[in-house]
Amino acid sequence: MTLPSNNKRILLAKRPERGPINQGTFRKDATPLKTPGDGEVVIKIELLSTDAAMRMWLVDTPSYIPPVKVGECMRAQGLGRVVESRSDRLKVGDLVSGTLGWQEYWVGPARVLEKLETPEGGREIDHLGFLGISGMTAYFGMFDVGRLKGGETVCITGAAGSVGLIATQIALAHKNCKVIAIVGSQEKVDLLAKMGVHYPLNYKVPGFAGRLRAAGGIDVVFENVGGEILDLLLAQIRPHGRIALCGAISQYNTTKPYGVRLTPQLITMKAKMEGFIAFDYEKRYPEARVYLADLAKRGLLKYDYHIVQGGLDGCVPSLIDLFAGNNVGKTVVQFPEVEERNTKL
Ligand SMILES: NC(=O)c1ccc[n+]([C@@H]2O[C@H](COP(=O)([O-])OP(=O)(O)OC[C@H]3O[C@@H](n4cnc5c(N)ncnc54)[C@H](OP(=O)(O)O)[C@@H]3O)[C@@H](O)[C@H]2O)c1
Repeated sequence: MTLPSNNKRILLAKRPERGPINQGTFRKDATPLKTPGDGEVVIKIELLSTDAAMRMWLVDTPSYIPPVKVGECMRAQGLGRVVESRSDRLKVGDLVSGTLGWQEYWVGPARVLEKLETPEGGREIDHLGFLGISGMTAYFGMFDVGRLKGGETVCITGAAGSVGLIATQIALAHKNCKVIAIVGSQEKVDLLAKMGVHYPLNYKVPGFAGRLRAAGGIDVVFENVGGEILDLLLAQIRPHGRIALCGAISQYNTTKPYGVRLTPQLITMKAKMEGFIAFDYEKRYPEARVYLADLAKRGLLKYDYHIVQGGLDGCVPSLIDLFAGNNVGKTVVQFPEVEERNTKL
């Protein structure tokens, strides 16, 4: 394969203010494609993951990961194929995942990439979905942080999103658990009802709080959205309940952060609220993958993707759109030449 002399990228142009980001937050450039050194490979990027956390990576505040620097290629997880190799670990044609960034090619040490095998009967894209970080987040959040037990009532927020859709199906498959799933449209309510969710609730319609109360108490919350919804959930937490704080998507783009009021419920209910980061469980990813692949094989985990076409041109719009809630399942940007068999549902 003849490689181009230039690599097109999208860089962070300036740190955004509070509130929604726009095209002006980023800028495009083209830079000479690096020649790989010893132990290095060139990866042609095929699919990039668009994640809510990317909004947080633009802000210079203390976090589990340093912010993207102004002028740096925007950080993003992705899948790609080895097109040149000077490493014994990877050969041309291998499929890999890693922090590849918003660019057409990635050049660097093979040791920081994960070599992937396409799962039996599966699609390569699943490495960005239930076999990727979304699946790992759902599994460890539900079982290690939420400590979900059989027969309990579990509530998932952002339940039709990338992580939420997996968390919801884990809960549905788990020993007679009762599942409350919170989403932002009737279409998503219908989807979740079809899956067997006991209480699929739309937080955007009048009477939502009353419907949530009517569902009874909650033992485990898998929390993706934060803000006012978290207060409503705190009001419903049962004694010794657990709230696994996965994300707070309602707060990432807001100009006025919401101050959660009902934390005293944690005292009276002797309940626990705990944040977690899925990357901390890296050594145990194989355990989660075995569990989730088995659920999928048994037809208990059906997974959808929101595929944005256009390669690099799709990156910024996909991130802006993420906060509008238009996605069901994982948002992924696809580069033009990716074969349909890798992504087709
Ligand atoms: N802790 C970790 O290690 C970890 C790892 C991955 C992701 N996360 C976090 O987990 C959360 C979910 O991630 P994801 O990848 O599943 O995101 P996603 O696919 O974008 O799904 C998030 C969903 O949240 C809903 N949402 C958006 N704005 C909202 C608002 N203001 N109020 C209520 N719901 C809103 C949207 O759907 P509807 O509004 O239509 O329901 C959207 O589909 C994010 O907060 C992310 O940062 C954490």
